[in-house]
Amino acid sequence: MFSPEVYINRRNSLKQKISNGLLFLPGNLEASFNYPANTYHFRQDSTFLYFFGLNQPDLAAVIDVDSGKDYLFGNDVDMDDIIWMGPQPSMKDRGAKVGLENTAPLAKLSEILLGAINKGQKIHILPTYRGDTVIQIANLLNINHNKVADLVSDELIKAVVLLREIKDEYEIAEIEKAVGVAYEMHTTAMKMAMPGTIEQEIAGKIEGISMSGGGPVSFPIILSVHGETLHNHHHNNVLEIGQMMVTDSGSETLMGYASDITRTVPVGGKFNKRQKEIYEIVLKANTEVIENCKPGVLYRDMHFLAAKTIVAGLKKLGLMKGNIDDAVAQGAHALFMPHGLGHQMGLDVHDMEGLGEDNVGYDDEIKRSNQFGLAFLRLGKKLKKGFVITDEPGIYFIPALIDLWKSENKFTEFINYDKLESYKDFGGIRIEDDLLITDTGCRVLGKPIPKTIAEIENTMGQ
Ligand code: GLY
Ligand code: MN
Repeated sequence: MFSPEVYINRRNSLKQKISNGLLFLPGNLEASFNYPANTYHFRQDSTFLYFFGLNQPDLAAVIDVDSGKDYLFGNDVDMDDIIWMGPQPSMKDRGAKVGLENTAPLAKLSEILLGAINKGQKIHILPTYRGDTVIQIANLLNINHNKVADLVSDELIKAVVLLREIKDEYEIAEIEKAVGVAYEMHTTAMKMAMPGTIEQEIAGKIEGISMSGGGPVSFPIILSVHGETLHNHHHNNVLEIGQMMVTDSGSETLMGYASDITRTVPVGGKFNKRQKEIYEIVLKANTEVIENCKPGVLYRDMHFLAAKTIVAGLKKLGLMKGNIDDAVAQGAHALFMPHGLGHQMGLDVHDMEGLGEDNVGYDDEIKRSNQFGLAFLRLGKKLKKGFVITDEPGIYFIPALIDLWKSENKFTEFINYDKLESYKDFGGIRIEDDLLITDTGCRVLGKPIPKTIAEIENTMGQ
């Protein structure tokens, strides 16, 4: 955990951004998977972690903006708990760790909330993403669960986003730790990507590296020789020469900060000519974004920059044709890159996405497009110093999408469907780094993970 002052300062900053009322911030509850006592790995709510730092289930917090007081609710353990779980800090001690004096048992929470409502205080909550939290809030406030969403406060969402999106030096150090673990995960995956190996052998190994290095993976591992399926969690294929293996994975530190890295390597360790050609285009898209990210730049423009690099590269190979700017403006490149360039990252791998993607990635200045491909861009707004973002362009050959567009004669002025036929077995390539926006540009976070063709071939020992 950070020092108590970090959490006190964060809560004070939050109070300054809210006009009045009571902020109710429930932590996450234990969640069962196949019977009550067999629970999922506990994951605290990230906003709760940000303001209250405590990584235990069944806690809740209230910030009274009007009186300036913060309260932490949770029950002290009894002897049964100590027998099964070992000694636990008291609620008073937990509160002290995050600079908070007012602690009370959970049974008091309803009283405080209903008392505030009776006094006419506004209750602010954030969007919920777990059914049990909705039921908890409904029970505490004595309202129907359908009414819980009515309490979601835009003012609170905006205030939380403004604070969480700027990472301080301690958070950046944590994220770099998580990238350090990702370095071990990705270089191990590269060395294991040999013909005859089953994807799950590699996925299992690197998940273990994450666990040994700090915490669990920051999202289920994507590892596949069918990288053209963007979030491929099936790991049953046997690796064969001629295939590219996409590994998109990251780790969480003990404090919950994430990394999110993608590397794509040729099975066997040596790129063939066709693989090199496509790889170099994606790499150029990735590095040009790194060269151009800085405060004040719209991330949507970085997405367009990557898209134009991809169209220019595919044109040289004869897979695309026509005017590059027009192709990107009309969305023809989305046949090859149907996803967005990246997203913010921090305590969540898609940072703050639980608060609503548009509330985090867009603002009054820039709204999400509904064009195919661009609609999946999670972050479009202007970059600020202190943002941590991903830069993850890709080129994919998705047979079903190619067949559909071809049958519709879609963008025939930009796409050479005949030439594309022979690429339908290619798979996909994605390259992803985690970037910190600095005063004048950006910095790739963590120990550099092999990325150029020479670095990858060298790491794979071929
Ligand atoms: N790394 C997975 C994603 O960003 O969706
Ligand atoms: Mn990502």
